[in-house]
Amino acid sequence: MNSAPGTPHEEAPGVRSQDVRIRVNGEDREAYVEVRTTLADVLRDEFRLTGTHLGCEHGVCGACTVLIDGRAVRSCLVFAVQLDGTDASVVTVEGLGTPEAMHPVQQAFYEAMSFQCGYCTPGFVCSTVAFLDEWRASGRPALDERDLRVALSGNLCRCTGYQSIVDGLALAVERIIGDETTTDAAITTATIITTTTE
Ligand code: FES
Ligand code: FES
Repeated sequence: MNSAPGTPHEEAPGVRSQDVRIRVNGEDREAYVEVRTTLADVLRDEFRLTGTHLGCEHGVCGACTVLIDGRAVRSCLVFAVQLDGTDASVVTVEGLGTPEAMHPVQQAFYEAMSFQCGYCTPGFVCSTVAFLDEWRASGRPALDERDLRVALSGNLCRCTGYQSIVDGLALAVERIIGDETTTDAAITTATIITTTTE
């Protein structure tokens, strides 16, 4: 059982609770939680950031993926107390953009229809953002379709068959990173989109 910071509550026998302060989407957020509470549960249940979804809760599906200091992390495998009082910066899908001003990856997924039920989508979006940041930092090596599929391989989707998600990533590559000097990526992604939207 969790509650607002400092709020006393009946604790399960043998389970300790404590206040935690975590930086999320640019704000310091606080809650009083059992020490066994995962970051995913704190985000959803305490901070009401329900865009972070829970699927397997075992680190397999990637639905709970968020960014911690820019890296894709499965929030079901992190205890909230691990981040308490640290400089770590958590970004959830809500922190990337808004319906009126979407992050380029969100926009690309939207335009490529990279979803059906959408349950897996926030995790895919966060993984994609981290991948593109890492790729940009590594000097923008040329990508082919296999690279895109490998980049998404840590996330599972039960609906789409994945092709539309690959299309979304390809479109994001074109929008964010593709330019005249990354012709391999531009050509490859354009080919993917052309061949899968006909
Ligand atoms: S819910 Fe975290 S990886 Fe599946
Ligand atoms: S769109 Fe339904 S699980 Fe991926």
